[in-house]
Amino acid sequence: MGIMRTKSIEQSIKDTEEPEFKLNKSLGPLDLTVFGIGVIIGTGLFVLTGEAAAGYAGPAIALSYVVAGLACALAALCYAEFASTVPVAGSAYTFSYAALGEFVAWLIGWDLILEFTLGAATVAKGWSGYFVNVFELLGIAVPPQLYASAEGGISHDWMAVLVILGMTVILVIGIKLSSQFNQVVTAIKILVTLFIIGFGVWFIDAANLSPFIPAPAPGDDAYGSALDAYLLPSILGIDTIYGVTGIFTGAALVFFAYIGFDIVATTSEEARNPQRDIPIGIFASLGICTVLYILASVVFTGLRPYQELGTAAPAATALEATPFPAAQLVVSLAILIGLTVVVMILILGQSRVAFAMSRDSLLPPWLARVHPSFRTPYRITIITGVAASVLAFFLPLTTLGELVNIGTLAAFVLVSLGVLVLRRTQPDLPRAFRTPLVPWVPIAAVALCLFVMGFLTIGTWIRFLGWMALGVVFYFAYSRGHSRLGRTQAAEGPTEGS
Ligand code: ALA
Repeated sequence: MGIMRTKSIEQSIKDTEEPEFKLNKSLGPLDLTVFGIGVIIGTGLFVLTGEAAAGYAGPAIALSYVVAGLACALAALCYAEFASTVPVAGSAYTFSYAALGEFVAWLIGWDLILEFTLGAATVAKGWSGYFVNVFELLGIAVPPQLYASAEGGISHDWMAVLVILGMTVILVIGIKLSSQFNQVVTAIKILVTLFIIGFGVWFIDAANLSPFIPAPAPGDDAYGSALDAYLLPSILGIDTIYGVTGIFTGAALVFFAYIGFDIVATTSEEARNPQRDIPIGIFASLGICTVLYILASVVFTGLRPYQELGTAAPAATALEATPFPAAQLVVSLAILIGLTVVVMILILGQSRVAFAMSRDSLLPPWLARVHPSFRTPYRITIITGVAASVLAFFLPLTTLGELVNIGTLAAFVLVSLGVLVLRRTQPDLPRAFRTPLVPWVPIAAVALCLFVMGFLTIGTWIRFLGWMALGVVFYFAYSRGHSRLGRTQAAEGPTEGS
């Protein structure tokens, strides 16, 4: 019993006032929007667009971006209501502790490790691709032992490790420094994306965009094993690449490009006016990125035949079609700088969620101690950095990316359901932002996210379910007995909901 216990929102806010767990409140609406864009534009746009266009969708990758963007927009409408109601660190984890009970909160927190820690590893692999590309463009060959996979063997990506550990150090030193650094780098990233669109558009060859939706081809040729087949298409017997199915498999992969708007909510405890500014940060960053993605993906596939875009640095590959080789170098360099920030914010997001979980004693509380002079949760930050490094070192980019996507989509499903539950259980709670058209928007968010999840591979589903099963074991072996809320409630005697 007790797994349904909920933490009151007042208690959640009060916990953040305890001095030993207190974070600096320094972020305003612009910081939050920049934070969002800073983490949203990254390996998804600059690497996975090429991979998804080449392997699944062709030029219709732009439509994949529309589908994935729609799923995110619906989920964002639900996220914003939660975030404006429960302004404490931890994102979906904290919201669900108040709305859906401790066990669901735990599952979401555990699930978010996929989004943040594996996300950081995925982006670091994209960084590694552009790093090698920049040196190639300068005529310097990076020894393959430093980044490549041995033929048929495991990857050994030292470049990815380098960027993760570098960002970990910056985060341990402090958020204010990180936030300023982030603003400059995010500006560079927005400019480079606008440059790709505004410059690239002049060199588009319309023939590359036709047919816009390539004819379907048998998927079997693309699969190494049954685990590489896509769940829903296999069930429905339509496991083809390209065609309409390809738009959705493409969407399931480039969904990664949108990940990050929800991370704005993880910093709410450091926001000056979270109820108003968190929804602004979420919608502004998501909206700007959606438009940029659709335009940029048309430019990528217009510049080069989509079959040629499945490289480690597709933005550079696409720009090879222009008569200005210097453009490639400038763009790759800017992307390289831009991706560093994504790695940083994902590690930051993880540290904030784990911080909230250990403050609640669902993870060991010593993890949540803030550094006496830097005021950052340094222990959890360092652990996250090391874990992400190990993953990035060994695993391929798409395996990591798909796992991140399934984990994040699952969190979106739970958050959307959470809005429905909280409206019922606590109808009078003040909500600075209210999801429109309840219950229809949350229901549509759940349905579309589940649908997109169906276009991930069977292997990804198995890994995801395995990870979640591990989380359930951990909860019953450790968290349930140690829970701060559980112990407080036990001391006070039985109450409703426990
Ligand atoms: N959305 C982020 C990226 O594409 C995580 O890199």
